[in-house]
Amino acid sequence: MEDAYIVNGGNVLKGEVVLSGAKNLALKTVIASLLFESKVTLTNVPKINDVHELLHLIKKLGATVEQTENTVTIDPSTLSSCKPDLLHASKLRASFLLFAPLLHKFRECRIPNPGGCRIGMRPIDRIISGMEALGVTTEYQSKDGYYDARLAQSPKGSYKFSKPTHTGTELLIMLGALGENEIRIENSALEPEIDELILFLNKAGAKITKVGATITIQGVKSLNQTKPFRIFSDRNEAVTFATLAVATKGSVEIHNLIPDQLHTFNEFMTKAGVKVLIRSNSIIYEYVGTVKPVSITTEPHPGFMTDWQPNWAVLMTQSTGVATVHETVFENRFSYVDELLKLGAQMEYVEESDIDNNTNYHFNTKGSKAMKQKIRITGGAPLHSAAIKIADLRAGATLLIAALIADGESVVTNANILERGYENIVEKISSLGGKLKRV
Ligand code: EPZ
Repeated sequence: MEDAYIVNGGNVLKGEVVLSGAKNLALKTVIASLLFESKVTLTNVPKINDVHELLHLIKKLGATVEQTENTVTIDPSTLSSCKPDLLHASKLRASFLLFAPLLHKFRECRIPNPGGCRIGMRPIDRIISGMEALGVTTEYQSKDGYYDARLAQSPKGSYKFSKPTHTGTELLIMLGALGENEIRIENSALEPEIDELILFLNKAGAKITKVGATITIQGVKSLNQTKPFRIFSDRNEAVTFATLAVATKGSVEIHNLIPDQLHTFNEFMTKAGVKVLIRSNSIIYEYVGTVKPVSITTEPHPGFMTDWQPNWAVLMTQSTGVATVHETVFENRFSYVDELLKLGAQMEYVEESDIDNNTNYHFNTKGSKAMKQKIRITGGAPLHSAAIKIADLRAGATLLIAALIADGESVVTNANILERGYENIVEKISSLGGKLKRV
């Protein structure tokens, strides 16, 4: 298999799309299911590479997994190993969340340094400090890249994140959910997946409350599901399809979404002159003759999300002027720039004098390789076909959109990276009139 998309671009894409379940909720609920006493059923689980990898990983740890289409049932009672295997764990950022269920089940575990998309160094220093504050002891073994962790008694205490972290917050929630004590997490991240994870656990008997960025958890003895839990739809997929339709001068009605989760994105689309029509369970995005240049700076939720910026950048190649994209969450999220240049896009890096100012960036600037964090895009240059290569998930969606805009046949390689997070992407794009095939 060549692992590529052959794309015939230049068509206006129009139609309707039904979103799949959210990758970044499905992964967390699968791992949180391992905290439960008995079987857990999740519905609307996307059939994507990351979920596939994770299910494989937990099966290797002894969990029993049944999957029928988008429904997954996990029996955590058969868990038998506390050491995830390096090959599979290193493919997934979320694998380090296994600390929580494995520590509760075995009181000790060995977890490899996490993998995931190469969009920065992605250290877990804040997360390790958080676990330690709640009573976990950890020791990093540089010889094999594993963390040895132990939990001698119920988690207790409190932790304030110096800067919010999305999966870090989720790990501490999972860690505190079981036990005898009250845990407090401050300056937590605010992403909607976190609220939904809390809902998932509370429905099973957990006692977790979140007020602003403060989370209070009263540990409980056990978690038991009473009915299947549905994974909400993927807001990042919604952004990709909205961008795709508008950038090809078309329109799309996106079904199954939660409009509130896209509030910020919709504001920016409206500023760009896109018609955004919000219905109760769907949103229509329509190109109406122009895309205005609009600059963005990424921020954690509720700001303009980092996962949306690569899509925004390709949209701005179709604008009538100059816009900038400033990334503040991950330090290496411009892998698509060189590839878009091959298609004829006009974009360049902008030197930032405040790159070392720790307060402006969510990654650790100290000691990390100085990366450029801002690009300037001049819209209007016609995109032409080329062979381009995907380096990370959201950049992948961006390159596919660009190839669908560009006249002629393009080849987009490393399709498997895009398929880490997008279900049935070829079928969905084809249903809008896009011409592409997977080879
Ligand atoms: C989650 O990443 C998502 N991944 C990302 O989705 C998403 O972009 C991001 O949150 C923001 O919403 C999953 O949910 C699996 P962070 P996460 O911890 O949790 C630094 C996608 O394509 N940091 O909030 O890894 C970190 O390196 C993706 O679906 C530390 O320095 O994000 C980053 O620069 C990719 N030390 C920043 O903080 C730490 O201990 C924010 O990270 C923890 C994080």
